[in-house]
Amino acid sequence: MSDWRSIPCVERHKEFLENLIAILIDCTFESVSRENPVLRWREPGHLQDIINFNLQEESRTQDSLLEIATKVFKYSVKTGHPYFMNQLFSGLDPYGLAGQWLTDVLNCSLYTYEVAPVLTLMESTVITKLLNMFYKEENGASIGDGLFCPGGSFANGTAINLARFWFRKRIQNNKTIPSTNLVLFTSEDAHYSVSKWGNVCDVEIVLVKTDEYGRMDINDLKVNISEEQKKGNYPFCITATAGTTVLGAFDLLIEIADICQEFDMWLHVDAAWGGGLIFSKKHSVLLRGIQRADSILFNPHKLLAVPQQCSLLLTKHKNIFKEAHSKQAPYLFQKDKFYCRDLDVGDKYLQCGRRPDVLKFWFMWQAKKYSFLKLHARFHMLPTQDKSYLYDT
Ligand SMILES: Cc1ncc(COP(=O)(O)O)c(C=O)c1O
Repeated sequence: MSDWRSIPCVERHKEFLENLIAILIDCTFESVSRENPVLRWREPGHLQDIINFNLQEESRTQDSLLEIATKVFKYSVKTGHPYFMNQLFSGLDPYGLAGQWLTDVLNCSLYTYEVAPVLTLMESTVITKLLNMFYKEENGASIGDGLFCPGGSFANGTAINLARFWFRKRIQNNKTIPSTNLVLFTSEDAHYSVSKWGNVCDVEIVLVKTDEYGRMDINDLKVNISEEQKKGNYPFCITATAGTTVLGAFDLLIEIADICQEFDMWLHVDAAWGGGLIFSKKHSVLLRGIQRADSILFNPHKLLAVPQQCSLLLTKHKNIFKEAHSKQAPYLFQKDKFYCRDLDVGDKYLQCGRRPDVLKFWFMWQAKKYSFLKLHARFHMLPTQDKSYLYDT
């Protein structure tokens, strides 16, 4: 008989779930063992013989599902394996995994405080701490706001949309300038999501040359800005990269921030990969100048090895998410809530339902005792004219 009810019951499901958890625990350790291969490669036709993917009319038994779970693991890529060197994974963290599993049991969605009280507060704690680390002002006051995003590409897109919103509000003074006259500059080594989301937002993208180290060429950037201005276009945003996808190059953030200041442009820093260096005493120097960015993308799921996905967009503009995104849907964000309505963070987001990605990050952060306060102090004490962080000095 098919098990149609979507509610766990002890008699029917406890043993099944216990067996599955036992398999998952074995898989966890096997997946990182040097004794085992990263992948047992099978051609697609062969794999379809091994696992019957067809959606059958008859329901499968619990035993057959457990058997399939074992095969799914056996023939999948072990991304946490020490020999897995593909595409920016950094391991399989046990505490991150624990947070991930707990997240799945909760199966909650983050938009209003009443449906996710614990995770709303946890998210706010992590965002505030990160804002402090990336942006802390001289007087010690923290500024800005942050969003957890479904991946770095989406965060880049959200940043471009914010930059356009900010430009329109501030520079354009309600004049109607077609998006296609707005120009965003990024390097030819920037992640392709920047160009992709430039298309979605219908803005012009100019790819700036890179220098011998893979960094955005500052002279080429200036030449391109001036050419676009001569054409009557509006340079509105520069997207710099802190840790390019292929070479791991760090754009010169201070020089680029100066240009943004001169031309009144939004500075977005794609630190999807390099942002993790904020936790490193030794290497955080590569992020020097990042505190001048209007927005920062940081993917803890890359360098910090937080399980997929964990991605944040931070901004120094405290109210901009609300201003740019809020629609106040009355079925969710009622005005007569019995708690502070600022806790209903959902209206700041471009999504509605949203998976909480904070728990695994928080678990890891606490288990590992990152000494971020000390690190932070060091990062901001560097003299502004110090060029020693450059590769060629
Ligand atoms: C520099 C950089 N930015 C953005 C991204 C996109 O991140 P995601 O894969 O989370 O969409 C990547 C992914 O490799 C990247 O390397």
